[in-house]
Amino acid sequence: MKKIIVLGKGGQLASELELLKFNDQNWCFLSINQLDICDKDAVSRYFKNNLYDIVINCAAYTAVDKAEEEIEACYNVNLKGIENLLEAIELNNARLIHISTDYVFDGQKSTPYNEKDSASPNGVYGKSKLAGEKVICDSKVKSIVIRTSWLYSNYGHNFVKTMLKIGKERENIGVVADQFGSPTFAYDLAKTIIKIVEDKKYTWSIGDVFHYSNEGSCTWHEFALEIFKISNIDVNVKKLTTDEFPTKAVRPKYSLLDKSKIKDVFGIDFHHWNNSLKKMLEKE
Ligand SMILES: NC(=O)c1ccc[n+]([C@@H]2O[C@H](COP(=O)([O-])OP(=O)(O)OC[C@H]3O[C@@H](n4cnc5c(N)ncnc54)[C@H](OP(=O)(O)O)[C@@H]3O)[C@@H](O)[C@H]2O)c1
Repeated sequence: MKKIIVLGKGGQLASELELLKFNDQNWCFLSINQLDICDKDAVSRYFKNNLYDIVINCAAYTAVDKAEEEIEACYNVNLKGIENLLEAIELNNARLIHISTDYVFDGQKSTPYNEKDSASPNGVYGKSKLAGEKVICDSKVKSIVIRTSWLYSNYGHNFVKTMLKIGKERENIGVVADQFGSPTFAYDLAKTIIKIVEDKKYTWSIGDVFHYSNEGSCTWHEFALEIFKISNIDVNVKKLTTDEFPTKAVRPKYSLLDKSKIKDVFGIDFHHWNNSLKKMLEKE
């Protein structure tokens, strides 16, 4: 039986993992109050006293716009927090599964990004996540980095929840229609992570990067239309350009991820974003 620790309990992805942990592994979920990954001494102490086989890091600073002003706070979690974990994990001889983002890409491509495409983030959040990936790849820890995109879940804060709220409050809203990506239901990603944890054939190496999202692509505008259609919410959704909806952080115009590698290595089946959205909304 493997001992697995999940950091970032209470976040979208960790919440889905916690509900799914149906297998016979020994799971431990820790919130920031139980272990702050920025606290080097606490991390080192914790891992000295507790042995794990796999560390799944779902903890992150994820406030993309706020990060433009809170640069230090963002790097503290997304880079220094990872350095603290790596040191402790190396001494523990454990393995790491770390989650990263499509925002490591600048969005200038028009075909799906694969793991070998060069990363060039637009904003502080993306830069901090890429810095986190780099220390993982430069460490001695056997690890998997999963980049995902447009994550949503029934738990925590996300675009779907925001649309449901404002769609019920307003008659007219505007949503950006010139940024393309793929929504990812955190439940599907959690199932994929469990499949990876249980895989017996995979040979772990240092910093093996994979891309994962749901199948298909859309704009935020199309995503919003589908949310309202499935939820029977009557609201006018105007198409906006990125220039008409300025945000502090620049988002990639196109961030579709090529998922061939994770499919080939782990035999992952993908659900279309549309079907996964229906599944999520049934639970709302
Ligand atoms: N959300 C997206 O659209 C998206 C897209 C692509 C990739 N990702 C990546 O996917 C992963 C999971 O994202 P998510 O949406 O599940 O994130 P989330 O809902 O924002 O959850 C992140 C969790 O990390 C915790 N945390 C923050 N600082 C911490 C610290 N110093 N020590 C320990 N825990 C800390 C947070 O606790 P508090 O809430 O108490 O601060 C929160 O529970 C992240 O790596 C993220 O970068 C997310």
